[in-house]
Amino acid sequence: MKLIIDANKREGVINPELYGHFSEHLGRGIYEGLFVGEDSDIPNTDGIRNDVLEALREIEVPVLRWPGGCFADEYHWMDGIGPKDQRKKMVNTNWGGVTEDNSFGTHEFLRLCELLGCKAYINGNLGTGSAKEMSEWVEYMTGTGISPMTELRKANGREEPWKIDYFAVGNESWGCGGNMRPAYYADLYRHTQTFLRNYDPKNPIQKICVGPGTADTKWTKTVLDACYEDAPAGTHGFMDYFTIHHYVVPDTWEHKGDAVDDADSLWYKSLNKARFMETIIEKNEAILDQYDREGKIGLCVDEWGGWYDVMKGTNPGFLFQQNTMRDALIAGVTLDIFNKHCKRVRMANIAQMVNVLQSVILTEGKEMVKTPTFYVFKMYKGHKGGELVSSYFTGNKEIGPDDARVPMVSASASVKDGVLTLTMSNLSKEENVDLDVQIDNLNCSMKVSEAKIVNSAKVSDHNDFGKAEVVTEKTFDAYKVEGDVVKVSLPAHSVVMMQF
Ligand code: AHR
Repeated sequence: MKLIIDANKREGVINPELYGHFSEHLGRGIYEGLFVGEDSDIPNTDGIRNDVLEALREIEVPVLRWPGGCFADEYHWMDGIGPKDQRKKMVNTNWGGVTEDNSFGTHEFLRLCELLGCKAYINGNLGTGSAKEMSEWVEYMTGTGISPMTELRKANGREEPWKIDYFAVGNESWGCGGNMRPAYYADLYRHTQTFLRNYDPKNPIQKICVGPGTADTKWTKTVLDACYEDAPAGTHGFMDYFTIHHYVVPDTWEHKGDAVDDADSLWYKSLNKARFMETIIEKNEAILDQYDREGKIGLCVDEWGGWYDVMKGTNPGFLFQQNTMRDALIAGVTLDIFNKHCKRVRMANIAQMVNVLQSVILTEGKEMVKTPTFYVFKMYKGHKGGELVSSYFTGNKEIGPDDARVPMVSASASVKDGVLTLTMSNLSKEENVDLDVQIDNLNCSMKVSEAKIVNSAKVSDHNDFGKAEVVTEKTFDAYKVEGDVVKVSLPAHSVVMMQF
């Protein structure tokens, strides 16, 4: 099998935000996972866990989406500002019916972004909120003049405005966000986005419109049609981004399978569903191309990842699951797809950062583990901000059962600052694969500067609390450079990164 790369054929810039994250008020995602409060025994900075911060800095989080998800459409931001003992409490109706004390609100989220050095993506409440509420939230965070919300922010201790990069009008408005029909949502979107003012013209907020959660393109077509109708030239349908959600639910919603015990039996089904991301992206790209020929609107896959049955004995509303080699492969395959579609796909946010669904970090009390997905994100860092270069396979056979076929190898390559980063995944559960990687037009010697692998004996291997790490990033040395070809041997179920 051969992988042919042409370092001269540049195919777009890989926006660093393709490696973004999502954290919702759901289970132990925010509380315990990220935020433990200033008085906690767990070492923290302004209430945010130091161990988690340090780990997240290792993978260089580019952007964080908050406060939901479904939670966003019941969140009233004013409940989460001001003295903590006076903040309203609410029931988190979507996720376990637990009490939300609002101790993590706008100031805490934006402090977290500051500590991570990442961009802020706020998801507004269209379901039970209003244009006024969203408009005032933007004014509170970014207002510069003399205005009621700006004064309120200052009274709450924040003199300078924050920079808000992205703001979404609703979440899954076709489902938990209000069960809306697409034409109705489109009108609400057009109306609401009007009042999201730019207080800092040099840093306009990027407006995000809700897209579909399946491969059915009716939502996309209807929303774009309505948003483009009589829209003034240059407004590209009043939006900067259009979202897609796609989860790897390996079996059915009723039986999603266990995160660890079914990693083996649902291996190919899981990877097949991960690969389906490309179909959804392509379908939406095709429609966007009809309306937005200049490519102004970015696709934003702001929820993706593996979704399994919750860990036995945990609150079903908390969506806590382990993370195995299967998740490492889902991440590798998905990130390669995003890279390959970087011309249109400009942001993606894994669901979710800590303790929820396919997380990069899991915590339990004072303990923390880095998951296999964490290590894949770490290995893929070199792609961020790079230029995608052309790559294609010859002889990449299809494997897996009839109802879940997948290509044996996935790959993507990019160039940045004179370094070519190549990532490859072997999707086979048990077969190693020998691959000839031919790199044309590298214009320098084929010197491998770094090579890493995430791999483990069993596909169900994972990292657990109180135990030595099983799955981690290791040095990769199963390759030989011969002229302009690198002969690589990829072990079964592995994700590999090489830099030249
Ligand atoms: O990530 C969990 C949930 O999945 C989100 O709240 C929702 O948007 C999606 O259905």
